[in-house]
Amino acid sequence: MADMRVNIAGVPFANPLIGASGTVGFGREYAQFYPLSVLGGISCKGITLEERPGNPPPRIAETPSGILNSVGLQNPGVEHFLREDLPWLKQQGTVVIANIAGRTPEDYCDMAERLSDSIVDMIELNISCPNVKAGGVQFGVTCEGVENITAQVRKHCKKPLMVKLSPNVADISENAAAAEAAGADAVSLINTLTGMRIDIRTRRPVLHNNTGGLSGPAVFPVAVRMVWQTAHRVKIPVVGLGGISCWQDAVEMMLAGASAFQVGTAFFTDPYAPVKILKGLEEYLNNHSIANVTELTGGVRPW
Ligand code: DOR
Repeated sequence: MADMRVNIAGVPFANPLIGASGTVGFGREYAQFYPLSVLGGISCKGITLEERPGNPPPRIAETPSGILNSVGLQNPGVEHFLREDLPWLKQQGTVVIANIAGRTPEDYCDMAERLSDSIVDMIELNISCPNVKAGGVQFGVTCEGVENITAQVRKHCKKPLMVKLSPNVADISENAAAAEAAGADAVSLINTLTGMRIDIRTRRPVLHNNTGGLSGPAVFPVAVRMVWQTAHRVKIPVVGLGGISCWQDAVEMMLAGASAFQVGTAFFTDPYAPVKILKGLEEYLNNHSIANVTELTGGVRPW
């Protein structure tokens, strides 16, 4: 039987599948389908210092190959998370990652400090939300911006720190290198790719926010390319995400260089998708006599 365990930045995961931020909430909805301990980890919905209502609706639109969202970081705030969500989630036997966002660098540092004193296992620094004016991707577009915010948060963060990167940039691998230089323990990529649809009947954008972030199968090839480039550029672990919907995608993402992977939109199309992905991945390893899932990472062969 293949060993499915991975270790990211000193944190042991039972397997490399992590529920992506924004798609599993704080875990409760999915606990009705299976014990959350089947997942290697859960990255919680992005949290901010204060509660946020998010952007006005409509803010979700389905497209044939993925979902466009302009949610705008709706969340109950860090205090609510610490009080109501984290104690329950931590009992479920999966790694808990807190995804954090802020309007200012001070917000991020304050959050990192509070969470450092909590029982979360890891912090994911969200500098790649495309849907908010203050505190979204503005900190994540340039290498200087990434390096600056990562360095500031690093000073206040006693937990392993993973920086979640935007694909809406010139060269994501350079932004990853900037995060690494500033002390990130890992990077996760990709957040959603900015997109837009227009309703030809009303002639209005389908989203009230006009634009939104695209996730799902449409972005998978983009994510594979970006993970592959980044894995060649940095030494810290790369956690790959973006449109993984079946076990074959998971294998491919790891071959591209991912040490672990996140599943997001697939949770919406089939709540059991993660269970199926893990089963297929384990069978693939067994069928190919691969003893450890870690052996897949970066295993793509050159032409
Ligand atoms: O596509 C996204 N939507 N990425 C994020 O990081 C946050 C989320 C939102 O709340 O808008």
